[in-house]
Amino acid sequence: MTVDSGDFRRVLGHFATGVTVVTTRFEERLYGFTANAFMSISLDPPLIAIAVGNGNASRAAIEGSGVFCVNLMARDQMDLVRCFATNGPEKYEHFCAANHHTAMTGAPIIEGSLGWIDCRVSATYPGGDHQIVLGEVQALESGVGQPLIYYRARYVLNPRKIPSGS
Ligand SMILES: Cc1cc2nc3c(=O)[nH]c(=O)nc-3n(C[C@H](O)[C@H](O)[C@H](O)COP(=O)(O)O)c2cc1C
Repeated sequence: MTVDSGDFRRVLGHFATGVTVVTTRFEERLYGFTANAFMSISLDPPLIAIAVGNGNASRAAIEGSGVFCVNLMARDQMDLVRCFATNGPEKYEHFCAANHHTAMTGAPIIEGSLGWIDCRVSATYPGGDHQIVLGEVQALESGVGQPLIYYRARYVLNPRKIPSGS
């Protein structure tokens, strides 16, 4: 059976997720991209996974630096989430004006996020048009706020009004 790309997107979009911004620092430049392909993998050792598009600027940067940080984004960080999904100068030259600090790896940690997970790349696997990157957690912390939910290709700003599936 051949799978239609529209069907693939529509059906997979019925899986509600949170939204992250995955960041790294490579050769003194900051990189970041909005991502919802993120999951917890293992507690011992502590491992998480992300999927990075083969053509993404961040893919080469994560490969080069060997580190990345997953920032769990809050509902009041929509502007940052939108900016990190673009490819313009606001992102590449100004890091979307995001306030940030660092912890263990040097990857930027975005202030005001619901949590962050600072990782060293432990393995990569081919995943079609994406690369699956396994990260060994070096440091992590949770914050306060409400999660940003992504469902059916939309950000859900009012969880009481989540549209029903179709
Ligand atoms: C809600 C949302 C989720 C996304 N999830 C991913 C993802 O998991 N992996 C990915 O490679 N791109 C994902 N993208 C697309 C990237 O954010 C986008 O292609 C970005 O411009 C890549 O930036 P870069 O080329 O600077 O790395 C997502 C976009 C949105 C809006």
